[in-house]
Amino acid sequence: MPDGPGGGAPGSGTGRAAAPPVTVPAVTEWVMEMRDPGALRSAPPPETPMTFSRALRPSPDVSRALYAAVGARVCWTDRFGWTHDDWLAWVERPELGVWLALADGTLAGFFEIEAQPGGDTEIHLVGLTPAFVGSGNGGHLVAECVRRAWERGRTWAEHTGAATRVWLRTSTLDHPNALANYRRRGFDVAGETTFAKTVPDPRYAPWPLPEDPRVERRARAVLVDGTREQELIR
Ligand SMILES: CC(C)(COP(=O)(O)OP(=O)(O)OC[C@H]1O[C@@H](n2cnc3c(N)ncnc32)[C@H](O)[C@@H]1OP(=O)(O)O)[C@@H](O)C(=O)NCCC(=O)NCCS
Repeated sequence: MPDGPGGGAPGSGTGRAAAPPVTVPAVTEWVMEMRDPGALRSAPPPETPMTFSRALRPSPDVSRALYAAVGARVCWTDRFGWTHDDWLAWVERPELGVWLALADGTLAGFFEIEAQPGGDTEIHLVGLTPAFVGSGNGGHLVAECVRRAWERGRTWAEHTGAATRVWLRTSTLDHPNALANYRRRGFDVAGETTFAKTVPDPRYAPWPLPEDPRVERRARAVLVDGTREQELIR
């Protein structure tokens, strides 16, 4: 899933050594679309019941954490160059909806969808956390995501009109089950392109924060020393 504009230096912000970027010579990317809500095919219910809750408090930190937990293993790296402000500006838009999936009391997955002008609703990100991949949970997650995508203008992004098309992009970098899952849910392929893509190392991804937390800690340490000094003087 190409996950948005950007790109960034591997390992920047982590202080750790990331491996150099790798160029994948032939990434095939598909545009998938569904033009009729009746085309959505539900999936068998997951073994462990999954509950979904819309994140009503947009959080760059939570979204960034989910992006890493779900996407690092499938090379979601397009947002590595985003600053904390970029994430904030992205998530606090009223036309963006983020849902969290819980199962067994654990964060099992999430999805991020956007009500775009003219009725298009884009699924930007959808996926399971690693412990829930490969056991029949993905069909249900995507079905619940698509159901909500069609509800745009009614249950979320109320200021926008109804959805006329639900769409997304997926690629050979995504999990091998992704394309089959979209087809099983009722999506059609609307486009296909193949290109080379240079992928930064997702293992030590940057973790943008609004400010450097070490600065305050350093000031606090000096204060403690200063206090001790004053106590000694007294
Ligand atoms: C993509 C993802 C949600 C799929 O979930 P999963 O647990 O791996 O897949 P599931 O076992 O639930 O299978 C999903 C569906 O695809 C079908 N499927 C899986 N592999 C298949 C194959 N080789 N051929 C045909 N169908 C297949 C399954 O039958 C199932 O359909 P059903 O629910 O109607 O039975 C999950 O792998 C994931 O989140 N990966 C990490 C993030 C990611 O890649 N996201 C996709 C971004 S576009």
